[in-house]
Amino acid sequence: MNQTQTDAWTIKRLLEWTADYFKKQGRDAPRLAAEVLLAEALDCQRIDLYAQFDQIPGEPQLARYRDWVRRHAQGEPVAYLVGHRDFYSMRFEVTPDVLIPRPETEELVLMALDEIKSWPNRRGLVLDLGTGSGCIAVTLANQVPELSVVAVDVSPAALSVARRNAATHGVESRIQFVESDWFANLPPGWRFPLIVSNPPYVGVDDDALDPHVRQYEPQIALFGGQRGAEPSQRLIDKSVAWLTPGGLLLMETSPMLAQELLSYAESADRYAACHLRQDLAKKPRILVCRAHK
Ligand SMILES: C[S@@+](CC[C@H](N)C(=O)[O-])C[C@H]1O[C@@H](n2cnc3c(N)ncnc32)[C@H](O)[C@@H]1O
Repeated sequence: MNQTQTDAWTIKRLLEWTADYFKKQGRDAPRLAAEVLLAEALDCQRIDLYAQFDQIPGEPQLARYRDWVRRHAQGEPVAYLVGHRDFYSMRFEVTPDVLIPRPETEELVLMALDEIKSWPNRRGLVLDLGTGSGCIAVTLANQVPELSVVAVDVSPAALSVARRNAATHGVESRIQFVESDWFANLPPGWRFPLIVSNPPYVGVDDDALDPHVRQYEPQIALFGGQRGAEPSQRLIDKSVAWLTPGGLLLMETSPMLAQELLSYAESADRYAACHLRQDLAKKPRILVCRAHK
């Protein structure tokens, strides 16, 4: 990097210009996006940008940054451009083969951790259905050293990303990755005291879905049939047989489907008790089902 010149493209000026440009293009969190892209282009942490406000990046770094700015302005997600996203204060590799981890899913992780803490020795086996980047499975294994996890996905490409994330965070020996259509390839005798899932739950015709999410994120991770409810109903049906007595199913869903899925789970005496948990925006987000003892 070079020293300041008048009117030069310093880090400060680049960030201000880019944040303003992203805002005009209708991108969410424009300043954060500018900082993440510039930090990655300069191979430093976001916080380091603030200590170098008057510096002028070199041309190769600027060329990379300009390309990402142009692509993000057109809607390409920042996480796919830089190849990672933070989740539960941990960095996860993401590629276009996996859903970008969302903050709502951190709530699911917190609930799972509460449940695990209530076990006498925390040594249970947790099943993560539709692991994607592995953000849920890897975070749980990272937070609870006694835990073993089975992480299932139907997408081999997603499982490769999840395996790399497990290795990065040093938990690969405690996560078994299984390529499977939900429960289909799991050994029949396995039982789990906790099943967690963030299944695809968007309806294919849902007009409210951000068009850039629809364009860039994997269809198989997003869409759950015509109305979005099909995979969730299937998991509610099938999980009963895979839970240990008194075990827990935690499933993320859309606020639009939550009440319907709660009624579905409560019908036919499938579970001993079910309820919905709200997210930070006070919307019903997680279906909680306790198996009969
Ligand atoms: C909404 S994404 C969740 C990814 C990750 N767990 C997260 O929370 O960010 C849903 C995941 O379910 C997987 N999936 C979709 N259909 C599946 C199926 N029939 N069997 C297993 N996994 C499936 C997708 O590949 C995708 O990774």
